[in-house]
Amino acid sequence: MDRKFVFTGLIYALIGLLLGIVMAATKNHGQMVTHAHIMLLGFVVSMIYGIFHKLWLPPAKSLLSNIQFFVHQGGTLLLLTGLFLLYGGYADPKFIGPLLGIFSVVVFFGMLLMAVMFWRANHQVT
Ligand code: HEM
Ligand code: HEM
Repeated sequence: MDRKFVFTGLIYALIGLLLGIVMAATKNHGQMVTHAHIMLLGFVVSMIYGIFHKLWLPPAKSLLSNIQFFVHQGGTLLLLTGLFLLYGGYADPKFIGPLLGIFSVVVFFGMLLMAVMFWRANHQVT
């Protein structure tokens, strides 16, 4: 699981940095919020989850760890795509706004599941 998180984190880093470079080159910073969240939610949070797995979570994959991975990755991909469409002016804010709210809650549940997994691993709950 640690390598899966590091790998997806690195993909987000490449995409986010590319967007940052495009913003800087075109002097159009309209996608700043998208860039910031690709770097922080996509790259930094995924890397931190990878580090949690490497350092403190059981090495064997569990059903919960698989669910947590897909909740985080699914929510993040949808949220970041939604932000790109919103800040690029490709989607009606009235339509994408409520969807972004739902995707945010999915990302929140990813963090909640990670907190549960961390707690269980450190309290010897099987
Ligand atoms: C190739 C490297 C990078 C380039 C060219 C770049 C470019 C940019 C640009 C043009 C902005 C908009 C600035 C503004 O309008 O005020 C920005 C903002 C931002 N970038 Fe980057 N960036 C890079 C790397 C990173 C990295 C590595 C991170 C974090 C891990 C990051 C996080 C952010 C954040 C959080 C903001 C929002 C700052 C704010 O709220 O004022 N960037 N970046
Ligand atoms: C469920 C996930 C998240 C939601 C819904 C969310 C929402 C928001 C919103 C509404 C803003 C203001 C954007 C604006 O200026 O119009 C913002 C800005 C910011 N958020 Fe988040 N955020 C999330 C996750 C994160 C995470 C995980 C980090 C850092 C690890 C982060 C760091 C920041 C930073 C640095 C800014 C200021 C830069 C900017 O304006 O883009 N956010 N976020």
